[in-house]
Amino acid sequence: MKYLIPSHRTRPSDDPIFALNAEAKARQAAGESIVNATVGALLDDNGALATLPSVSEAIRSVPAPVAAAYPPIAGPPDFLKAVATDLLGPHASFAASSATPGGSGALHHAIGSFVEHGQTVLTTSFYWGPYKTLSDQQERELVTFRMFDPAGRFDVASFDKHLHQILEVQGRALVLLNSPCHNPTGYSLDAGEWDDVTTVVAGASKKGPVTVAIDGAYALYGARDLAQDRDRILRMADHALVVFAWSASKSFTQYGARVGAIVAFCPDEADRRRVASALSFSSRGTWSTCNAAGMSAITRALVEPDLRARVDAERATLKALLDRRVAAWNDRARAAGLTFPRYDGGFFTTVLCDGAFDAAAALKQDGVFVVPQAGALRVALCSVPERDVPRLVDAIAKRLQ
Ligand SMILES: Cc1ncc(COP(=O)(O)O)c(C=O)c1O
Repeated sequence: MKYLIPSHRTRPSDDPIFALNAEAKARQAAGESIVNATVGALLDDNGALATLPSVSEAIRSVPAPVAAAYPPIAGPPDFLKAVATDLLGPHASFAASSATPGGSGALHHAIGSFVEHGQTVLTTSFYWGPYKTLSDQQERELVTFRMFDPAGRFDVASFDKHLHQILEVQGRALVLLNSPCHNPTGYSLDAGEWDDVTTVVAGASKKGPVTVAIDGAYALYGARDLAQDRDRILRMADHALVVFAWSASKSFTQYGARVGAIVAFCPDEADRRRVASALSFSSRGTWSTCNAAGMSAITRALVEPDLRARVDAERATLKALLDRRVAAWNDRARAAGLTFPRYDGGFFTTVLCDGAFDAAAALKQDGVFVVPQAGALRVALCSVPERDVPRLVDAIAKRLQ
């Protein structure tokens, strides 16, 4: 194929997770009893996509002229203000932001804005696969530090070592951190770990500019939501640029609306203007504007007190559904002797193991679908009814014996 540029000729098309999900669904449709722990969306106990009715209603009631018109490139000011307030609370006026299609768009802009072409982006050794796709696409290289130390805690020493190495080589660094409810491990940094991250960043920043991008895709599903760690995270801003990837996909169960934002915390006004301009330039040069109807509805869901109260109550019900699965998993999987990181909420957990690909293939014979990666099986509890958790755990334990 001479027309495709050489570097794009061998790119894989389908995401392997989508392929596994399709196989699980086909077998289920043929009448088999299947536990499908591959889907990265919250399903109810009947296997239907869980949604927040009040948000769906808000989307349906967006006036036609609002939905049809071009929104501003950077996003409607009321949307940006609502998101900044959600993330930064009383510091919202220090936000330099741009609307993005989901958190993916925000990660895209972070990767393209804070390290140069050809430079590396640093993240944890377990990470959401698209981090690499987003880096490859923009010709940045993704490198990782060991996520867990031997005690199973966030490996600050490895983070410190890699961050220093990167700064020595390229003079600047971008770190992607996904917490709470890290995908795929389910791990949430605790207060002490955020402080450790801040200490490392403060030390490393003497070698060059460090940007820490916090991917809060699951911000409202953790035992602590991201806002509870806000002040501690913002302390990092004395030494680094703190940027958030904000997404409505999970928080408002609107995966397809493609509503998100990148929000940089910039107390200095001149910096704030420069960062905001750079971000909106990137938006114009990548996708132009985002989904007007989606942003309008999500703005209302954030700022109108009655609607917000309904949304929060409906989300609390879904979170409780997920938390029951998490509790069932923790009890059963601990008793079965599975090794998995601290898991106190969120869509996924990960079983640490050898031979993950063989185990996942064997589990398919038992009608159980999980996602293998080097050294781990990702289990999407968000898509598994609580009643199936015992079967899921027992099958994994058997295949890992
Ligand atoms: C870790 C992580 N970050 C970001 C996203 C972004 O999702 P979206 O682009 O739909 O907001 C996802 C979605 O699965 C995710 O798992």
